[in-house]
Amino acid sequence: MIDIGNMSNKALIKEQYKSTDSLKLRKSLHEKYSVNETGFQRWMFDQYPFRAGMKVLELGSGRGELWDYYFENDALQKLKMDITLSDFSDGMTEHLRHSYSGRGVSVRKVDILDIPFGDDTFDLIIANSMLYHVKDIGSALSEVRRVLKTDGLFFCSTFGTNGMTQFLYHAMDELGIPYEHKSNISFTLQNGIQLLEKQFDRVERRDYEDALEIEDVRDYLDYIYSMASLQGLDRGKYDVLFHYFNSRKVNGSLHVPKEYGMFVAGRRYGGNHDPVKTQFHMQ
Ligand SMILES: C[S@@+](CC[C@H](N)C(=O)[O-])C[C@H]1O[C@@H](n2cnc3c(N)ncnc32)[C@H](O)[C@@H]1O
Repeated sequence: MIDIGNMSNKALIKEQYKSTDSLKLRKSLHEKYSVNETGFQRWMFDQYPFRAGMKVLELGSGRGELWDYYFENDALQKLKMDITLSDFSDGMTEHLRHSYSGRGVSVRKVDILDIPFGDDTFDLIIANSMLYHVKDIGSALSEVRRVLKTDGLFFCSTFGTNGMTQFLYHAMDELGIPYEHKSNISFTLQNGIQLLEKQFDRVERRDYEDALEIEDVRDYLDYIYSMASLQGLDRGKYDVLFHYFNSRKVNGSLHVPKEYGMFVAGRRYGGNHDPVKTQFHMQ
């Protein structure tokens, strides 16, 4: 039985991210077929309230591609921020070191459940597309809150439950391919506010409007087969899935819905002069 919803099994996650190749493959599907040309990473990066000398921590950085926007921007580099990129996978941490050592950012191996920094250390903490991998989300968010300064901000992105996965469930249902539907994905756009509000006084949701229009269905199948949670998917089902998705093309492309967005969380509420409030409204 394929376990589609099992996004927070630690062994599976480490397997999925032990090399950067499968992540690259999944990203290339988005790059090739997304309708919104801004790009999710660019959209997120443009919302971070960077300022001179601030201390920044990214958790679950993966390949660290978000930081390409930083390195191509001279004005940002002049802000002399103290930036730490991190991941709990050896493969990703090694990749980050290889890509970024000597370029003015630090790289650490860090598990969000045990962040090796003192209380009130960071002005800005980022955790993109990674919280849904963490089973004990309460402990993870409490660790983030601990190392965030009182007037700091936490930006975290995730997906919603009406996007790509739901589309795939529907296809598997129609084709009679059995899978175990675990609806307990730990962190989504739907439950994020509720979870974050246990640790943070101020939480805001921002959505990124997008969808995929896939011309070559084989790219989509490569994506599906690269997901660790679908490792039980029989290669023999490839042709069935291929014909199913191909037959659903309209004007030459398969429409796959996406539901992505982010939350911005601050530790405290304040009055008019509160830095959290100012930063929340700076966009
Ligand atoms: C989907 S990737 C996202 C990578 C990157 N943040 C991005 O948006 O492209 C998820 C990353 O989170 C990392 N990760 C999963 N669980 C983690 C944990 N408990 N602590 C730190 N990193 C974790 C994985 O190794 C992987 O690199």
